[in-house]
Amino acid sequence: MASITVRRLDDNLKAQLRLRAARHGRSVEDEVRTILREAANSSTSARMRGEVGEPKADSRASSTRDGEPGNGQFAQAPHPNPLPARAERERKITLIIGGGIAAYKALDLIRRLKERDAHVRCVLTRAAQQFVTPLSASALAHERVYTDLFDPQSEFDAGHIRLARDCDMIVVAPATADLMAKMAHGHADDLATAILLATNRPVLLAPAMNPLMWNNPATRRNLARLKSDGILVIGPNAGEMAEANEAGIGRMAEPIEIADAAMQVLRPAPTGPLAGKRILITAGPTHEPIDPVRYIANRSSGKQGFAIAASAAAAGADVTLISGPVGLSDPPGVRVIRVEVARDMLKQVEDALPADIAIFAAAVADWRVAREGDQKIKKTSSGLPPLQLVENPDILATISKLKQKRPPLVIGFAAETEHLIDNAMSKLLRKGCDWIVANDVSPSGGVMGGDRNTVHLLMKGKSGGETQIESWPVMPKDGVASALVDRIARNISGAETA
Ligand code: CTP
Repeated sequence: MASITVRRLDDNLKAQLRLRAARHGRSVEDEVRTILREAANSSTSARMRGEVGEPKADSRASSTRDGEPGNGQFAQAPHPNPLPARAERERKITLIIGGGIAAYKALDLIRRLKERDAHVRCVLTRAAQQFVTPLSASALAHERVYTDLFDPQSEFDAGHIRLARDCDMIVVAPATADLMAKMAHGHADDLATAILLATNRPVLLAPAMNPLMWNNPATRRNLARLKSDGILVIGPNAGEMAEANEAGIGRMAEPIEIADAAMQVLRPAPTGPLAGKRILITAGPTHEPIDPVRYIANRSSGKQGFAIAASAAAAGADVTLISGPVGLSDPPGVRVIRVEVARDMLKQVEDALPADIAIFAAAVADWRVAREGDQKIKKTSSGLPPLQLVENPDILATISKLKQKRPPLVIGFAAETEHLIDNAMSKLLRKGCDWIVANDVSPSGGVMGGDRNTVHLLMKGKSGGETQIESWPVMPKDGVASALVDRIARNISGAETA
């Protein structure tokens, strides 16, 4: 098969090709491929229509036995087992591998993405090449790997622009603190950052770094900036670090999680039963500081709220999840905002309005100390420290009672250890929400922190009608999540009246 080197074409033709490619948002190479494909297709269909001479065998093959028109795809004799329809267009991913110890996992990520039928083009930063070799990446991707912004082989037609745009999305894994800082500030001093600045495709970061770097205010600022710029983030997860005796949040999300998140991003426009609906969810505990080292908290793991967020996103909703401190990674396709204290949770909830549905699954601390100590409170011989408590804002009640911007469907949770239904019923009335998911959190049930939940759904009747109560069987928390999402979908579609 002959190959064409675009560089060797005459200048006028090259200029025309560049213009055409730019108009179509394609690389010059892809534009050439498209032109050739179009030319080949038009001569094939001309032959099918008999506009040009055609070998006899082919013309027989292009009509079917029953005299119906041929499908024009394969000029072959009818086959007893017809070929399957052409697979969905291959998704192209530019994978930027940053320089961190987690780079070795990026090699597995290439395989995971390819398993999901993605075409992967790898870019390795200079630091990444200290951890993995371009040869390993190219052997797994079955493609050449890109490392240099000034590579004459790929930059003759501004290859960094091709890598930035001739793809469906960009994944950065591992996204180091340095790479995130450069992105947040718009640097473009190497191939990876130039691609990230030049792209108009979705970008998914999988951060990986030491927990202290992750928690450093500079990284927090950069992360917030990137999220507000629309950059998607998966992880990092909590766990052991490569550094001896260190653990915390900073491990890169697992390759399968990243590959699934990427596929979620590449899904066509949402079509599920909650497509077009904005859902706001709170989850997890809050940590209310007593002094710089101590806080008031509870045993909530956040699992139920995270599962609801994942289910709602899978049903096509646009989901914002506002979570207290938990060790869970961001569910794919969900905008996650992490907070520590109840007052910040309320502020983030208010900022995220308007929403069609709000679900308050967080176990918000009811109290905080009136005066947080600036320094660690010391034990003294003069007795116990006076800790005066004040009440936190009730987020569910505040949002349920809004005059403006109240979401049309507000759902609360009632965590009870006794008189489950009675307490939940009075909470439903007191807080002013529409539905309450009541769950028994007695220590014997293992709900707090566990994976299963037994719930009762209380739905306030419309226009003062009677409250309906449904008791669901014990289910895993993601089962409760999908049952709740299903119930919401039926309710808003008008298929039932609560
Ligand atoms: N909630 C809230 N803000 C608070 C307290 C609770 O938004 N400051 C929400 C929870 O997210 C949940 C509902 O209110 O949806 C009920 O929470 P729960 O802890 O069961 O009830 P409390 O209001 O805290 O009442 P109590 O602790 O007396 O049972």
